[in-house]
Amino acid sequence: MELTNGATKAGDWRNYERVLLPPIRNLHKLEVYENEANGYNRLRDVLENDDWTPESVTNEVKASNLRGRGGAGFPTGLKWSFMPDPDDRPRYLACNADESEPGTFKDRQIMEYNPHLMFEGILIAGYAMQLDACYVYIRGEYADWIRHMEAQLQKAYDKGYVGDNIMGTDFSMDIVLHKGAGAYICGEETSLMESLEGKRGYPRYKPPFPAQKGLWASPTTINNVETLAHAPLIIENGGEWFANTGAEAHPGPILYGISGHVNRPGVYEYPTGMLITDLIDEVAQGVIDDKGIKAVVPGGCSVPPLRGDGIDGVTMDSESLQEAGSMLGTGGMLILDEDTDMVSYLRRVTHFYQHESCGQCTPCREGTGWLERIVTRIDEGEGNMRDLDLLLDLCDQMEGRTICAFADAAAWPVRNTVKRFREDFEAKCKPSVHPTGADLSAAGA
Ligand code: NAI
Repeated sequence: MELTNGATKAGDWRNYERVLLPPIRNLHKLEVYENEANGYNRLRDVLENDDWTPESVTNEVKASNLRGRGGAGFPTGLKWSFMPDPDDRPRYLACNADESEPGTFKDRQIMEYNPHLMFEGILIAGYAMQLDACYVYIRGEYADWIRHMEAQLQKAYDKGYVGDNIMGTDFSMDIVLHKGAGAYICGEETSLMESLEGKRGYPRYKPPFPAQKGLWASPTTINNVETLAHAPLIIENGGEWFANTGAEAHPGPILYGISGHVNRPGVYEYPTGMLITDLIDEVAQGVIDDKGIKAVVPGGCSVPPLRGDGIDGVTMDSESLQEAGSMLGTGGMLILDEDTDMVSYLRRVTHFYQHESCGQCTPCREGTGWLERIVTRIDEGEGNMRDLDLLLDLCDQMEGRTICAFADAAAWPVRNTVKRFREDFEAKCKPSVHPTGADLSAAGA
């Protein structure tokens, strides 16, 4: 299949041709990838064509305006350019395949259906940043995909695409698959490095950023699976093609993961910037039983939920979502219908964060436990109106006070769910009663 060279705007999504997950049978097999998807020819071009230097590859990625697809949306070309000039230290890439954000299951699709696109992207990034090795840190629960990728990686080694003197050139790079052990925090880039070094996955302070001091104190870049899978496509079609696809400020193809109360949940590849309503009504074929929408969580459970009555005209890109009061995050959309009890939703979310906090920082270790206990109390009809203010106060005590963004990610959904769906919480709260018997709730207590 020929890849599309015509950039597709979000409004034209119906005519979009998939490039990350193209409809090619058995694409995971090396020979199919080579014969039908131009496989490893972008790497060959980069290594053999003198027009491509490490700088020009990085500049092409910069021109594409690709923003990291792991959730934070940091500009990828800029990140690559942070790597210092080579010295006597080894240089590493860590491919973050620890996909653990609830509602997020899109990297898995690349690893299952198009693993060689990820390997080729890793090697192109390796050439651009003059790296020695890449560690792919894969979520341990993805055991089936790990076995399957090990087999495909071996084939790429056997064919001379990975390892020493790749394709007969003087570029050498190894790829190592590393299985995580089920800790959400190990998807945070600095804990991921600690874990790879064989230590407990506690986040490190930043700065120094990984480019200065990463794996084994050597220069390191960490990129998400989908981010790296874009690299061969950018080399083949040009940075301009990518920059003109989808939303201008956050462009490119993207994998939307849609789950919750919809008729056809799944992972869908389209340009960025699509209307949330198109994704729900047309792509996911509407809400089950034609019910109304109570809430949409646009990008994994760390990002603030939007009210269902506030999604008209909102598009899936960082700017539009920020204006609406949320974030693109991982693009994993959770749709909750009108019958959803948001207290019970938040109880599940707070339980997750309490369970996954690594415990290194006190505001996070203690705060996530408090959040879960208070929301549980409200859910069981034992909370009172003052608990709502207590929850918001706890969020204030957690946000921005810890080494990594985990505490922020635990606090945002609480703050925004309580504020935006207050009626659900109030319906479950008892009035605040003073020991003297006075009702304090009317005074805003
Ligand atoms: P971040 O904004 O701190 O960093 C993003 C990237 O940019 C990092 O690689 C960081 O090293 C780099 N960076 C930022 N400022 C820099 C600077 N001044 N100099 C050099 N490099 C710089 O965000 P973080 O903590 O890496 O990621 C948070 C996001 O991850 C959340 O918004 C959430 O959506 C997402 N997430 C995704 C998960 C998944 O399963 N895909 C799981 C959990 C969270």
